[in-house]
Amino acid sequence: MDFKEKIRVILDYPQEGIRFKDITTLLQDGPTYKAAIQEMAKFAADKQVDIVVGPEARGFVIGCPLAIELGAGFAPVRKKGKLPYETIQAEYTLEYGKDALAMHKDAIKPGQRVLIADDLLATGGTIQTTIDLVKQLGGEIVGLAFLIELTYVGGREKIDSDYDIFTLVQY
Ligand code: PRP
Repeated sequence: MDFKEKIRVILDYPQEGIRFKDITTLLQDGPTYKAAIQEMAKFAADKQVDIVVGPEARGFVIGCPLAIELGAGFAPVRKKGKLPYETIQAEYTLEYGKDALAMHKDAIKPGQRVLIADDLLATGGTIQTTIDLVKQLGGEIVGLAFLIELTYVGGREKIDSDYDIFTLVQY
């Protein structure tokens, strides 16, 4: 299936010179969305994943169906101030700004097998912060899965260790 054909590229959004990858057009197409999630689930099928962790908001759109497909749980990573219970936090730098991400302190039990999922690997800042949070909670990271990788940004090289990484579409 040609997943790339379903992703809309928007020029100069959110600022000049950026070619924004809009996944809403892929999500709108039921069979393509399902096939994308199934391809990502294949990558993780033999990893005995206990829980999928995904950063808001687009990480939920990928991570939640992936968790269901794998029969695993899901734990959200959110921007600080959004989670109601006690949290742990870590700072991160985005492609276009800075913020802190948080998880509930009991979102993962020590030793649980964690698959981290998101729609996009760009600078790697979001995912590295997510990795830091999962490690703080004692999760065992068994893989990272993304719908899209912007290889020209080089995020993969910035990730702190040699994780098993799957990306469905590359630019
Ligand atoms: C986007 C995207 C990834 C992250 C990738 O999220 O969904 O999470 O940026 O970029 P990076 O590799 O450079 O960190 P964003 O923070 O825009 O939030 P959203 O999903 O709520 O739009």
